Amino acid sequence: MSRAVAIAHANIALIKYWGKADVARNLPAVPSLSLTLDGLSTRTEVEFDAKLSEDHATLDDVQLSGKPFDRIKRVLDRLREQADSSAKARVISHNHFPTAAGLASSASGFAALVAAASTALGIGMNHAQQSSLARWASASAARSVYGGWVQLRLGAESAEELAPRNHLDVEMLVAVTRRGPKPIGSTAAMQHTLETSPYYPAWVDAAPAVFERGKAALLAKDLSALGHAMEHSTLLMHASMLAADPGVLYLAPASIALIDCVRSLRESGVEAFFTMDAGPHVKVLTRTADAERVVGALKSVAGVLDVLRCTPGPGVEIVEAP
Ligand code: PMV
Repeated sequence: MSRAVAIAHANIALIKYWGKADVARNLPAVPSLSLTLDGLSTRTEVEFDAKLSEDHATLDDVQLSGKPFDRIKRVLDRLREQADSSAKARVISHNHFPTAAGLASSASGFAALVAAASTALGIGMNHAQQSSLARWASASAARSVYGGWVQLRLGAESAEELAPRNHLDVEMLVAVTRRGPKPIGSTAAMQHTLETSPYYPAWVDAAPAVFERGKAALLAKDLSALGHAMEHSTLLMHASMLAADPGVLYLAPASIALIDCVRSLRESGVEAFFTMDAGPHVKVLTRTADAERVVGALKSVAGVLDVLRCTPGPGVEIVEAP
C-alpha cells in the first residue's frame, strides 16, 4: 500500500480559456492567465492498494460515479501506465471552500489528484509534468499546479508561473450570488459555443492580443491596464457563448448589478475590476488597501449572498508522502 496527500488551490482566470483546439488532448484554443487563490482549496488523499479490485473515489464524503469518476480514473490509468502498476486506488477528496460558495473546484481537484497519485506511486514528476497531466482532465487544473500568477500559452502542454504571489498587493473578492447546479457544465458549453456561435471565430481571433495586453500589464505591475484586459476578456468570452444557439447565459440579475457596482466604484476612483466564469458569481480584483471598501459595496448589492476575500495563493503541495 502506498499513500500520499496533496493540497491544491482554485484559480480564477483573468484572461479566459474557452474552447478547445484539440478535444482529444484537451488543448485550449486560446491562451489564458490566472491567479491562484488562497482560501479555496482541495485536499486529496490517494492510496494504491493491491487488495482493491477497482478504483473508488469520494468527494466531500459522497461516492463518485459516472463522468466525474471516469475523469479521475483516466488520470489514475495514465499514472499506473507510467509506474507499470496495476494497483487500484482509493481517492478521498475534500473541498475546503467556504460553504455556499458553489464555486468550480475541478481545477484544485485535479491538480491535487495528480500530485497525490503520482507521489503515492513513486513517480517523480516535476511541476510541468504534473501540469500537463492535470490539463488532460481540465485545462484550468493545469494552472492550479502553480501559485501566484500563471499562464497557459497557446498550444502549450503545461502552464507556467509568470510572477510570484507577492507580485501585486491585491485581493480577489468573490461575490457569491446563487447556489445550485450550473445550467450546463463548462466542457459542454464551450463545445456548444464552438459548434453553434457565429462569434466563436471572432473570440479565438481576438483572444491572443487581449492575453498579450494582460500579460504585459501584469509584468509592468499596471493594475488598471490588467483589470481592463481582464474585463475585456470576460465580456468577449460571454459574448461568444451568448451568441451560441441556443445561447448560454450564466449570468444572473445580481451579476449585472455587481458589474454596475464595480463600474461606479471605478468612477469614484477605486481600482476594482470584475470577471465572471461559467456561473453567476462575480469576482472582483482590487488593491488590498481598497478591499474593505469594495467588500462593503459588493455586499450592499441585492442578491449577493456572501463576499469571500481571497489573497494570491500557493501552488500544489504534498502534505503527506509514503
Ligand atoms: O478547465 P475548465 O473545463 O474548468 O474550464 C474553465 C473555463 C473558465 O473557467 C470559464 C475560464 C478559465 O480559463 O478558467
